[in-house]
Amino acid sequence: MDARTIIARLRDEEPVSAQEIAWFANGIASGAVSDAQAGAFAMAVLLNGLTADERVALTRAMRDSGQVLDWDLPGPVLDKHSTGGIGDCVSLVLAPALAVCGAYVPMISGRGLGHTGGTLDKLEAIPGYGTQVGIERLQGITARVGCAIVGASGEIAPADRRLYAIRDISATVESIDLITASILSKKLAAGLEALVLDVKVGSGAFMKDMDEAEALAEALVETAQGAGCMTTALITDMSQPLVPNAGNALEVITVMETLTGAQVNPALWDLTCALGGEALALGGLVSDAAEGARRIGAALADGRAAERFGEMVAELGGPVDFVERWRDRLPSAPVVRAVPAGAAGIVQAIDGQALGMAVVGLGGGRRQQGDRINPSVGLAGLAPLGAELTADQPLALVHAASEDEAEAAAAELRAAYTLGGKAPVIPPLVHRRLR
Ligand code: URA
Repeated sequence: MDARTIIARLRDEEPVSAQEIAWFANGIASGAVSDAQAGAFAMAVLLNGLTADERVALTRAMRDSGQVLDWDLPGPVLDKHSTGGIGDCVSLVLAPALAVCGAYVPMISGRGLGHTGGTLDKLEAIPGYGTQVGIERLQGITARVGCAIVGASGEIAPADRRLYAIRDISATVESIDLITASILSKKLAAGLEALVLDVKVGSGAFMKDMDEAEALAEALVETAQGAGCMTTALITDMSQPLVPNAGNALEVITVMETLTGAQVNPALWDLTCALGGEALALGGLVSDAAEGARRIGAALADGRAAERFGEMVAELGGPVDFVERWRDRLPSAPVVRAVPAGAAGIVQAIDGQALGMAVVGLGGGRRQQGDRINPSVGLAGLAPLGAELTADQPLALVHAASEDEAEAAAAELRAAYTLGGKAPVIPPLVHRRLR
């Protein structure tokens, strides 16, 4: 086999065998395939697409390019993946709730991408929490606590690591086939029995319209099932932030308020129950998703999920008293400024991508790889769709490192909101389920 022949077949829309795809993926991981060849491969896939079988073959091969975990635990190994949005802090609540319900959750997560926040960046707002652990430590914490939210080590799906970096600079990120193989290769390397996917649609998601979201959800479900992992996807709303805070420590505040019952966020609670219910049903821990959602709700309501979250934080180097003392432990920004609506009106639309970029501009996300994050900054108390505001009422509070940065974010915040005279239609939290 050789790289040029495989690329030519993809270019000419001729079938490629699973063995050829596996050879190519291994070549990406080992370096036998050059950057130019990997870039040409990615472009051929983006332009001509893969068949369902080819996509499964690529996913399996990229998963198997590194270490694939195996487990010997008294409960199912489950996970959730979100395609990313604004104020999406579900993973922090869901992982401990699933663990309370008898699942084991080795949640290998990512950092912020573009305008969307990242689970690892949120957890790193907790002083001492270390997301970079080796595979043995991930396995140990998962077995002891039931969940561990950490970053991917170099041993997980190295073919994806290299191909993603090449896609990033060759205008080939936007291929549904490559996105699917990339996401699933890392997730399935954790040795999951079942996976629930949260495919977001709307202004704050990567997929802005329903057709795109459905195409991605279908590709993800079909491919994960084809690679041997039971999978359900929910297509969920991202036409407004999931919770009213966007920014790393600010989202952890919403998580802790919800976990401890200090101030439950209904959308966070409901989406956690919906996704968790699906995962528990796939894992055989309950008879159906509705029963699963009830079990997740009970684990949240009686404080067991909060306790489990605290155990995970302590195991990963965070404060041992985080659940009791989170208000004192999280960093806060020196400048907090309310941004008034400026004119009376009802919130008609929110440009989620613009909100995400405002958080990035404040230093809460990265403009380039390697940028340092300021965990304390962001937007709090974001007015939801349908909110009726007077001219003096705030769209949100900007938390910033300086007055100048607050000023710039305030302008972006005002531009992201559309106010008008009539009440908008508020989309449902969950649009569709695919399995
Ligand atoms: N997230 C990933 O892990 N890979 C992609 O290609 C896109 C989003």
